[in-house]
Amino acid sequence: MKALILSGGKGTRLRPLTYTGAKQLVPVANKPILWYGIESIVAAGITDIGIIISPETGGEVKSKTGDGSKFGAKITYILQNEPLGLAHAVKIAQPFLGDSPFVMYLGDNLVESQLDLFINKFQSKQLDALTLLSEVENPTAFGVAKVDRQGKVLQLLEKPPNPPSNLALVGVYLFSSTIHNAIANIQPSARGELEITDAIQYLIDQQQKVESFRLSGWWLDTGKKDDLLAANQIILDSCLDSKIEGEVDPTSNISGRVHVGLGSKIINSIVRGPVIIGENCHVENCFIGPYSSIADEATLIDADIEHSVILKAATVTKIQQRIVDSLIGERAKLHPAPQRPKALRFMIGDDSQIELI
Ligand code: DAU
Repeated sequence: MKALILSGGKGTRLRPLTYTGAKQLVPVANKPILWYGIESIVAAGITDIGIIISPETGGEVKSKTGDGSKFGAKITYILQNEPLGLAHAVKIAQPFLGDSPFVMYLGDNLVESQLDLFINKFQSKQLDALTLLSEVENPTAFGVAKVDRQGKVLQLLEKPPNPPSNLALVGVYLFSSTIHNAIANIQPSARGELEITDAIQYLIDQQQKVESFRLSGWWLDTGKKDDLLAANQIILDSCLDSKIEGEVDPTSNISGRVHVGLGSKIINSIVRGPVIIGENCHVENCFIGPYSSIADEATLIDADIEHSVILKAATVTKIQQRIVDSLIGERAKLHPAPQRPKALRFMIGDDSQIELI
C-alpha cells in the first residue's frame, strides 16, 4: 500500500500566516502539522509516500520535510500547478500510485491515529473506498455522508447547505485503483474543482464497495486560528513529555509538563505546563501559562502568555496585559506602549486580526 498526502492548495483561511508559508507547515506543539500525518502513516507500516505540493509553497515543504529518511520513509514530491481539487491531485499522482491501493491524507488534518484499524477493515473487506467519518456540529463546512446502519455509504455531498447527517468526512481516505476510473468520469464542481466526494459518489453509483469507519478519537481540521489553538492544546495534553535541555536559572519556577529545548534560557520566569519552548529562545521575567507553544529563537521579555502559539523568531517585550488565545507569526514583533499610550502605532499585514480587549 502507498500513501498520498495533499499539501498543495492556497491556505487562504490561515492568512496572513500562510502568505509566506504553507499552512501544512504551521506548527502544532512546535512540529509542522504535516509531519504528524507522515508519522502516523509510517506507524501503520506504509513507507512509500507521495506528497502533493504547490508552486508557491512546495519548495519550503520539500526543504523542511526532506526525502523521508528522518521518518523512515521514501517521499516522492508531486507538483500540482493549480489547486484544482482533491480528485485532481489524485489524477496527477497516478504515475506515482500505479495500480496500488493507497491512503489519501489531507496534510492540514490532525487525526488521532487509528490508521491500522482503518487499513484492516479496507483490506479484509476488499473495499474500493473507505471513508473516515466523525460527528460534527457544523456539517455545512465539510463533505457530509449519509450511511446505512452497517456503515455502507449511501450518499456523499460536499459542503451541502442542507446536510443529510452530521457525519463529516475526515481528511483520511482509503482507495483501491478503481478510484482512477471514477475520477476520469467526473466533471469539475460549481467551484471549479474535481471533488473527491463526486468520485466516491461515482463508485457508489457503479455499485462498488464503499464503506465508512466512525472515528472515535479526536480530529482537527487546522484551517483556522481557533482550530489550530485547539489542536495545540490536544497535542500538548496527550503527547508532551517533560524535558529540560536548555538552562533554567534558580529564580525561575517550572511546574507541570514542560519541554525547554537546547540553547534556550529561562530567567526569573514562571512556566506552568503543559508548555513547549523550542531551541535558542530567551524567556525573561515572564509568566508562560498552560497550552503555550513557543517556537525556536523566540524572545519573550516581561510578558504574560497563555494558551497561545508563538512562531519562530517572534519577539514579545514588555506587554503589560496577559496575551491569551493568540497566534503570533514568524519574526513578528510586539513592543511596549509607554505608560498609558496616547496613540497606537501599527504595521499590520493584510488579513491580520488585532483584538484590544
Ligand atoms: O478536512 C476535511 C475536509 O477536507 C472534508 O470534509 C471535505 O470533504 C474535503 O473536501 C476537504 O475540504 P476542505 O475545504 O477543508 O479542503 P481544502 O481545500 O482545505 O484542502 C485540503 C488539503 O488538501 C489541504 O492540505 C490543501 C490540499 N489541497 C487542496 C486542493 C483543493 C491540495 O493539495 N490540492 C488541491 O487542489
